[in-house]
Amino acid sequence: MNEGIENKVILITGGSTGLGAETARLLAGRGAKVAVAARRKDRLDDVVAEIAAAGGTAKAYALDVTAKDQVEAVVASVVADFGRLDVLINNAGLMPIRPMSEVNTDEWDQMIDVNLKGVLYGIAAALPRFLAQESGHIINLSSVAGIKVFAPGGTVYSGTKFAVSAISEGLRHEVGEKVRVTSIEPGAVESDLKFTTSGAAAETVLDFYKQAIPAASVARAIAFAVEQPDDVDVNAIVIRPTAQQF
Ligand SMILES: NC(=O)c1ccc[n+]([C@@H]2O[C@H](COP(=O)([O-])OP(=O)(O)OC[C@H]3O[C@@H](n4cnc5c(N)ncnc54)[C@H](OP(=O)(O)O)[C@@H]3O)[C@@H](O)[C@H]2O)c1
Repeated sequence: MNEGIENKVILITGGSTGLGAETARLLAGRGAKVAVAARRKDRLDDVVAEIAAAGGTAKAYALDVTAKDQVEAVVASVVADFGRLDVLINNAGLMPIRPMSEVNTDEWDQMIDVNLKGVLYGIAAALPRFLAQESGHIINLSSVAGIKVFAPGGTVYSGTKFAVSAISEGLRHEVGEKVRVTSIEPGAVESDLKFTTSGAAAETVLDFYKQAIPAASVARAIAFAVEQPDDVDVNAIVIRPTAQQF
């Protein structure tokens, strides 16, 4: 158990796989009450069952973060089910890598809707509650691609992640006296994210991901931000494979 994590109610979007699921397992193992939300309810149920089998507390919520009303409804349900919300981890995302010249507006729309607007809808639902209770923590998953433009191929992905980092910093500036805000900026991490790239760049992405570090490394970074005492706000954590140059 862990003093800064135990009994905190933590909602993780994109909690069905990858970084989100691993973070749920770690935080639940340290005593948090974890709400995992994503579209694939069967995968969420597996994560919840695993946490329960290990003695932890978790609940699954079906959610498409591109639907503003659903995000608000899930946050309201978590508060109703657990009595409060302490931490929102805006983690849902996808990374279809493709040169701009191939003009794929469906992928551009998806990345903006999930990686960017999904984060904003999460903030919209959690922030009024955090301000009212005069505490709370918003953790956004940006990327090293939110520090340096991942081009060619990751230009729109980088655009969404630069935006997430900018929103995190602006939000901290605006509400930081009451609400903690953390931007997590990982490099290549083992998960299903690499499979969201199809087309000509797919092989290059798989090759790049050979250096990936385990999702648990990011989960530990997130736990570090969560467990700090209330007067300490970890603003940003950049974490990448030692071997990764980009
Ligand atoms: N892995 C890396 O190398 C890396 C590096 C830097 C940043 N990140 C960021 O970390 C976050 C998590 O990625 P990951 O690596 O864990 O990838 P992942 O294994 O593919 O997980 C992505 C998660 O997002 C969820 N998701 C996608 N669209 C959604 C939607 N419309 N509504 C709700 N949930 C949705 C997926 O669940 P469902 O399909 O069940 O909805 C899944 O749980 C992303 O924001 C990613 O950009 C990852």
